Amino acid sequence: MSTQPDTRASALIIHAHPETDSFSTSQAHAAAESLRAQGYAVKFIDLYAKKWEPVLGRDEFEPFEGPFKPQREQWNAVKDGTLPADVRADLDAVFHADLLVLSFPLWWFSLPAILKGWLDRVFVMGGVSGGDLGAFEQAALTGRRAVVLATTGGSAAAFAPDGAFGDINDFLFHINRGMFEFVGYAALEPIITYGPAHLDDALRAEALHRVRDAFSNLHHRPLAASTRYRALAATS
Ligand SMILES: Cc1cc2nc3c(=O)[nH]c(=O)nc-3n(C[C@H](O)[C@H](O)[C@H](O)COP(=O)(O)O)c2cc1C
Repeated sequence: MSTQPDTRASALIIHAHPETDSFSTSQAHAAAESLRAQGYAVKFIDLYAKKWEPVLGRDEFEPFEGPFKPQREQWNAVKDGTLPADVRADLDAVFHADLLVLSFPLWWFSLPAILKGWLDRVFVMGGVSGGDLGAFEQAALTGRRAVVLATTGGSAAAFAPDGAFGDINDFLFHINRGMFEFVGYAALEPIITYGPAHLDDALRAEALHRVRDAFSNLHHRPLAASTRYRALAATS
């Protein structure tokens, strides 16, 4: 048995789709395969499969008197080492990974609730940002990368800057800026398959090929559009 530390780059994929047979799940596995093929150690967490509890509530903390202030309790739990076991395990996985991938279908122009709840509970105050840490470049995950891997119902044209739905970058801004960059990650340009329900088998195979390709070329991938705010922050 090897006692050498694992020095490979590592990736954490957090996947949120209720159907194992969906296109979204296939593209998440395609991403994992592509990363493994380049030598990444990949941890794949399927939130529905592990029945993730998404609701951040008072009961997950040690008993305390007075009003419930979620961020204060998170910070106390970080300092006291009393985070719930499911949160602690996934937070450790976050810190172990150089690359975080959030994989999901776009629901209401946003994240499925189970994934939002993963962020509410795992990106803890005092653990990834805030508390003794700062935000953005002062936060704990600075120096790592994160990327959205999504599917949509609408077409690419509908999500273009002049499209009927609006610019996809506007809908993903709260993730890229408010979640990834806020806790220190460099947010990469999202990887999206538009309208897989309207694709036949050959076009789906092509779309999966594009996803694999994107993950094997991450080092060339530009930063997300939200990066313009990083530049502003640096000059203000
Ligand atoms: C609750 C819910 C909300 C949705 N909201 C949107 C939306 O805001 N924009 C959109 O383009 N598609 C929306 N869709 C469609 C899904 O994004 C689409 O079916 C999915 O990404 C296709 O991938 P899949 O076949 O792997 O599920 C929604 C679907 C559901 C179930």
